[in-house]
Amino acid sequence: MSNSSSMHEDIEEILISEPVLQARIAALAEAIQEDYAGRQVLLVGILRGAMMFMADLARRLDMPLEMDFMAISSYGSATESSGVVRILKDLDTSIEGRHLLIVEDIIDSGLTLRYLTENLARRNPASISVCALLDKVKAHGDDIIQPQYTGFSIPSRFVVGYGLDYAQKYRNLPYIGVLKPSVYTE
Ligand code: IMP
Ligand code: MG
Repeated sequence: MSNSSSMHEDIEEILISEPVLQARIAALAEAIQEDYAGRQVLLVGILRGAMMFMADLARRLDMPLEMDFMAISSYGSATESSGVVRILKDLDTSIEGRHLLIVEDIIDSGLTLRYLTENLARRNPASISVCALLDKVKAHGDDIIQPQYTGFSIPSRFVVGYGLDYAQKYRNLPYIGVLKPSVYTE
């Protein structure tokens, strides 16, 4: 609409452009397809951040698969994770004996992923792997759950777009960007 301001004006810097994102996702899909040949995978998308990534990744995977979703919320401030996670929506599928591939938007402290993998491991799946689009490598030590598949290592800055939000907004940006500081302080 003509009187609504553009989201793009709130972005200070585009960190990962749309074509770069899509090319990397195609490469990730190729690797996953190779690794899972002969196994039926259950993609577990973590809402809401992983929605765009999950949708694009799944469309690149030319193999039989199923999809399910978990919604979680982590206690903490708007921009920092506390590691205390609450399940808002659990899986609809029984995962016993299944090959799980957790699809996450971003690893920051790594605490959310640790909670998730420990929770899911107790349900006796055949295997659990993790595919994270973004990893803030300097925000955590080497002792975290290491994802088998990572899209991009990024600096420890707060990013939005392509599923990632600030105060529930900017998820619909087609790229990963950094917000202008004025957006936080206004
Ligand atoms: P962790 O538990 O510290 O690894 O945080 C992981 C979760 O925090 C992600 O699934 C995101 O929902 C959220 N998060 C971490 N960093 C960012 C960011 O830069 N932008 C948006 N959300 C983020
Ligand atoms: Mg998340």
